[in-house]
Amino acid sequence: MLFNKRKAKKPPVIDGRLRHIAFIMDGNGRWATERGMPREYGHSHGAETFRKIGRYCASIGLQCMTVYAFSTENWKRPKREVDTIMGLLSHYIDECVRGMEQEQIHLRFIGNLEVFSPELREKMEKIDRATAHKPFLLNVAINYGGREELVHACNRLIAEGKTSVTEEDICHAIYTAGCPDPDLIVRTGGDLRTSNFLLWQSAYAEYYFTDVLWPDFSPKDVDQAISAFYARKRRYGGV
Ligand code: IPE
Ligand code: IPE
Ligand code: MG
Repeated sequence: MLFNKRKAKKPPVIDGRLRHIAFIMDGNGRWATERGMPREYGHSHGAETFRKIGRYCASIGLQCMTVYAFSTENWKRPKREVDTIMGLLSHYIDECVRGMEQEQIHLRFIGNLEVFSPELREKMEKIDRATAHKPFLLNVAINYGGREELVHACNRLIAEGKTSVTEEDICHAIYTAGCPDPDLIVRTGGDLRTSNFLLWQSAYAEYYFTDVLWPDFSPKDVDQAISAFYARKRRYGGV
């Protein structure tokens, strides 16, 4: 059959209104359960989706993407599941170190990284430094919680000697410092909540919720979220 050119979908045109998209990658467990498989199976498919969506977002003219990979609350899960997620993460970092030259991605890890082993932290810091000159920033939020981030930022400011703080001080002390606030936050998996993600940064973000489970999420779904974003009118409290 001949390829029908008219049906080929063009990537969305991104302008300065959309610099940063953040994803709450939810639904891996349900995706696996629907297939009669253990939840870990969903996480490994979810990791593939993350690679695919990361590369897609890096190719369409955005400045930045943030993904919620593991929350401060996710430690409550069974050890086997937590170990699988951490194993996938470590594997991803090794893969990025190997493929760093080809990719146009600055990889940064955000969250309270103090809980991780010195070896893993060293690897995360190393790849962050080695890719810092790349044009597209990808923040991977691990052991991340919006409340923890704010407490951590306040303590950092106190340690610097501050006795009162401004909004600007907090912007400089949070994990995403230097990165524009997310314009669009996409949550897959059908739940309508933020689950402690980017509490400070999301003040004026547009939210997009979809029932699609993360392992099924595709570049086409990104395009749909972007179209919905461009149909919104952001007023920032004005008229
Ligand atoms: C998101 O998928 C991944 C993490 C939270 C680590 P879930 O594992 O929460 O999948 P569901 O929501 O149970 O389907
Ligand atoms: C949010 O998903 C956290 C991540 C995607 C990493 P959860 O599955 O942990 O959120 P809840 O428990 O449904 O709020
Ligand atoms: Mg979930």
